[in-house]
Amino acid sequence: MRISEAQIEQIRISADIVDVISSHVQLRKRGKNFIGLCPFHNEKTPSFTVSQDKQIFHCFGCHSGGNVFKFLMEYKKISFVESIQEMAAELGITLEYENQKSEAEQSETEILYDINTSVAKFFSDNLLKEEDGNIARKYFEERKIKPQTLRSFGLGYCPDHWDATINFLNKNNIDIEKSLQLGVIGKSDKGKLYDKFAGRMIFPIFSPNGRVIGFGGRIFDAREGAAKYLNSPESKIYHKGRTLYGLSHGKDEIRRHDLAIVVEGYMDLISLHQHGVKNVVAVSGTAFTDEQVQLLSRYTKNTVLLFDADTAGVKASMRSIEILLKQNMNIKIATLPKGEDPDSFVQKNGSDAFLDVISRAVNFLEYQTAIFEEQGYFNDAAKSAEAIRELVKPVALLNDELKRSFLLKSIAEKFGLREKLLEAELEKAIIAANKFPVQEQIQKEKVKLKKISEADDVKMPPAEFRNEQEIIILLFEENEQITRYLLDHVNPDEFQIAYHRILAHLVYDALINDEALRISTLLEKIEDEKLQEYLLEITFEKYLISDVWDQRKPENKEKRLLKYANDLIKFFKLYHLEKEIMQNHALVEKAEDEEEALRLMKNGHMLYARKKEIEKGNY
Ligand code: UTP
Ligand code: MN
Repeated sequence: MRISEAQIEQIRISADIVDVISSHVQLRKRGKNFIGLCPFHNEKTPSFTVSQDKQIFHCFGCHSGGNVFKFLMEYKKISFVESIQEMAAELGITLEYENQKSEAEQSETEILYDINTSVAKFFSDNLLKEEDGNIARKYFEERKIKPQTLRSFGLGYCPDHWDATINFLNKNNIDIEKSLQLGVIGKSDKGKLYDKFAGRMIFPIFSPNGRVIGFGGRIFDAREGAAKYLNSPESKIYHKGRTLYGLSHGKDEIRRHDLAIVVEGYMDLISLHQHGVKNVVAVSGTAFTDEQVQLLSRYTKNTVLLFDADTAGVKASMRSIEILLKQNMNIKIATLPKGEDPDSFVQKNGSDAFLDVISRAVNFLEYQTAIFEEQGYFNDAAKSAEAIRELVKPVALLNDELKRSFLLKSIAEKFGLREKLLEAELEKAIIAANKFPVQEQIQKEKVKLKKISEADDVKMPPAEFRNEQEIIILLFEENEQITRYLLDHVNPDEFQIAYHRILAHLVYDALINDEALRISTLLEKIEDEKLQEYLLEITFEKYLISDVWDQRKPENKEKRLLKYANDLIKFFKLYHLEKEIMQNHALVEKAEDEEEALRLMKNGHMLYARKKEIEKGNY
């Protein structure tokens, strides 16, 4: 059962985001917008902004944002459908449900999510209800995992028959090709299908929004040649490097405590939850990736790493420390007694003892120093110089001047060294890390560009980048005439930045399908959370500026927008043309024979002529 698009749209139009948010957050008017203290992170000065015009909210501090439904989902920790039901009740709208959409109507990724959800249910039923699952039930019982926990983490079991999942898929008419893509089943060289997770205990892996994107499967006993955990392959919906296990279950607690405890394993995380420690994520046995850090940094900037004390654990934490520092996260490292992992420790000693370990976490300098000490580095002059150099290295990664000098001081004190000496080391390390001191403004622009260039690696000059960005902002201005005008002249595929291409296509599709151009509606169609965030950020930024304009001369708004659009188009066209001219020029220089050179030069003349026309405003 589902609620029709039309009804959702009706609710979206009837609801007022300022009314809804006001009943939970104290808002006051500032210019065109409303501001207040963000309910999603701790803050003393308001960076939570609500736009009544656009019916969206955005926090400049923790980067949460979206439309009215998103607010309710995050604030009340409810699902999308529940948020609609709640709004409907509030507005006195009676909801009518329609039947499931046909497959053709569902988007590709929706189908993949659905398959995973069905398969997860199948695994879970096996564990909780079926005869086949006895062995797994017993296993979890021995590991002291309660039935309630099995359910809340959707744990499951895949029977040991090599065709149980296949049979389930066939019986339920689930697409085999897509299930192969998702890696729940495999195909042998001879073309025979088989269960990938046969005989394994299943840990569904969730997206931050709680959708099943993959699975980890644990074997009962370590067998020769078989991995202890088998994980789903990367797929259209599962990207290991962008996923943090347990984030969906722990994100609210992470925000509330403003701290994330980072552990290695699935079982560690689950066990901690069962003991009431819920502000946890698991990196699943590898070092952090940049993308995982960015994901986590939306919820908190503070982490305590709690990795196993074995060599692999130490290695992983060293690597993670670097990545976390680079992104300006605060890190502390906690250690458990040798031979323990968070799961075994909390089972044995309880949550108080565990939290005590967390409270005794040390900063990364103390941690690394202790490791060097343990390895005997400081018994030997040459080696101890090496150790100090190593200690300075991560300091160079910090963007924060104050933090840097503070840490440098503490190294100097600890080893009785002159600070000047360390400063010289630091200087070298900074150069090695390619981090020249830059003005704050440039830095900011860089951060923005960096955010973008993760989506694609186009190196664009800032002015041209800004031009693209401004076109995108204008496309989302909710002015159909202007949007149409822009898209008549600018092809969505021509944007250099992938994010901009996606956003332009989104508006374009809405336009040709005669759908609403409202940003609050379009936001829901964006799957990539980072992209949503990006759109909100640039929209609100623009809003702060246009606020002033609009109030000054509201009657000229249309005219002004059109002129603005024309300027943007001109710049955009000239940029692309100029590039073409340069490429053509390079080809002329390289031309093999006269005939070709002539042809290219002709082409060059044509391009020049076009350029002149565009400069005159004919495009
Ligand atoms: P561990 O070997 O520490 O396992 O690996 P664990 O989580 O403590 O599990 P139990 O307690 O033995 O049942 C830590 C994490 O590394 C990943 C998994 O995410 C695991 O939770 N891992 C480990 C793999 O992906 N594959 C492997 O073969 C082993
Ligand atoms: Mn373990």
